[in-house]
Amino acid sequence: MLYWGDDMIHIENLTKKFYMGDTELIALKGLSFDVPTGQFISITGRSGAGKSTLLYNMSLLDKPTCGSVTIDEQVVTEIDDQKRVAYRLNNFGFIFQEYALIPTLTSIENVMLPLLMQGVKRKELELEALQALQKVGLIDKLKNLPSQLSGGQQQRVAIARAIAHNPKIIFADEPTANLDTISSQEVLDIFIKLNKNGQTIIMVTHEPEYARLAHRTIELSDGLIILDKLNSVKKR
Ligand SMILES: Nc1ncnc2c1ncn2[C@@H]1O[C@H](COP(=O)(O)OP(=O)(O)O)[C@@H](O)[C@H]1O
Ligand SMILES: [Mg+2]
Repeated sequence: MLYWGDDMIHIENLTKKFYMGDTELIALKGLSFDVPTGQFISITGRSGAGKSTLLYNMSLLDKPTCGSVTIDEQVVTEIDDQKRVAYRLNNFGFIFQEYALIPTLTSIENVMLPLLMQGVKRKELELEALQALQKVGLIDKLKNLPSQLSGGQQQRVAIARAIAHNPKIIFADEPTANLDTISSQEVLDIFIKLNKNGQTIIMVTHEPEYARLAHRTIELSDGLIILDKLNSVKKR
């Protein structure tokens, strides 16, 4: 039996409609589920199933048409526009398929940038960035520009950037989609290690073998949850 903390995220009737001219597309059809603290969840399903839309609407990158997301008893979907960005910066870490590093900044500068935006003091900045780069095994690449790193290494810098401020939740959208098998495994190993230390992770992937590494898999099809199951992984 696996145990986690109390439920941290409550998702209720999450619905997202897109309008293109007169056409309405319902990308999320009233999803409800809870995520306990410390769980590693994979969201899977075919292309167009609604995986990215779910991730963006859970993480305040987009606004649902109706329904709510509650995190630690705060209804975060009601946070007004001015405070949303700050809430996201302080509480979430994001990892995307494209690494989205700033090409003119070194690894450590890329990791320090969001901390700077959050107002972390100079002295702490560097220390936190160093610790994050250490966690992803890139302490020897501090001064490299993204162009001097492999794809896998760039994604690890992006992970360091996402974890440097100790976010409550990590959201990753197809983090291994551009990577070869070895680099993908390295990224997944980092997620597993972070999760062992209590990090809650929500990862979108269309690769079933990667999805299975998470504690739990939610499968979407056509904007609906068609499967929500625990995987047979040991408690980490
Ligand atoms: N900004 C948008 N405008 C219109 N339709 C969108 C938009 N984003 C996603 N969709 C549509 O919503 C559905 C779900 O898309 P998405 O969440 O990107 O799927 P997945 O990530 O599972 O491939 C698709 O039919 C897609 O075309
Ligand atoms: Mg997607």
